[in-house]
Amino acid sequence: MIKLLGISGSLRQGSFNTALLRAAQASLPDSVLELKTLHGIPLYDGDIEANAGIPPAVVALKSAIIAADGLLLATPEYNAGIPGVFKNGIDWLSRPPADVPRVFGAKPVALIGASQGAYGTILSQAAWLPVLKALRTTLWTGGRIMIAKANTAFGEDGLLKDKAAQEQLREFLRGFAAFVTQHAKPPSLHP
Ligand code: FNR
Repeated sequence: MIKLLGISGSLRQGSFNTALLRAAQASLPDSVLELKTLHGIPLYDGDIEANAGIPPAVVALKSAIIAADGLLLATPEYNAGIPGVFKNGIDWLSRPPADVPRVFGAKPVALIGASQGAYGTILSQAAWLPVLKALRTTLWTGGRIMIAKANTAFGEDGLLKDKAAQEQLREFLRGFAAFVTQHAKPPSLHP
């Protein structure tokens, strides 16, 4: 069975993007989608990197990405762009540059997002495209999930209240999982 890693771009306990990842989890067989956040990652500072190396929270997240067959990024939208917290996390994860191919290279990636505005992260999802291209990921573009007015979108059960939206999420995940299965590296014969 494939392993997906979901990263929420919000640190907020009540985050709608984390909620969206949980709703995604509920649509998948058990243990296919593991969730991670960016808690513990400091602001990128080249002096920290030069003097103390890569922070432990970054090292741990890099390992989780390497171990996953596919990456599901749940992005908020701030001022029509990528929130600094999320971009900062990805910037740390891209250090040192020599590691980029094994962390992100050809990694199947899908983007989803939830925002309280009317357009549901359409601009931040667009802003991610050059970043994902720079990291040489393999972006899946077979579907779009942009949850608008997210503050009213989730029910007590954690699922999307709108049944059509929850079904759209299920369909999205089905498509992405099939794509990841096609791209998953066969287990190495030489451990
Ligand atoms: C926002 N929000 C927002 N929403 C949106 O649809 N478009 C936008 O450009 C912005 N800009 C923005 C800037 C800043 C600084 C903040 C703090 C918020 C609202 C945003 O969608 C809302 O806070 C979400 O709840 C954030 O996602 P999480 O934390 O719930 O995952």
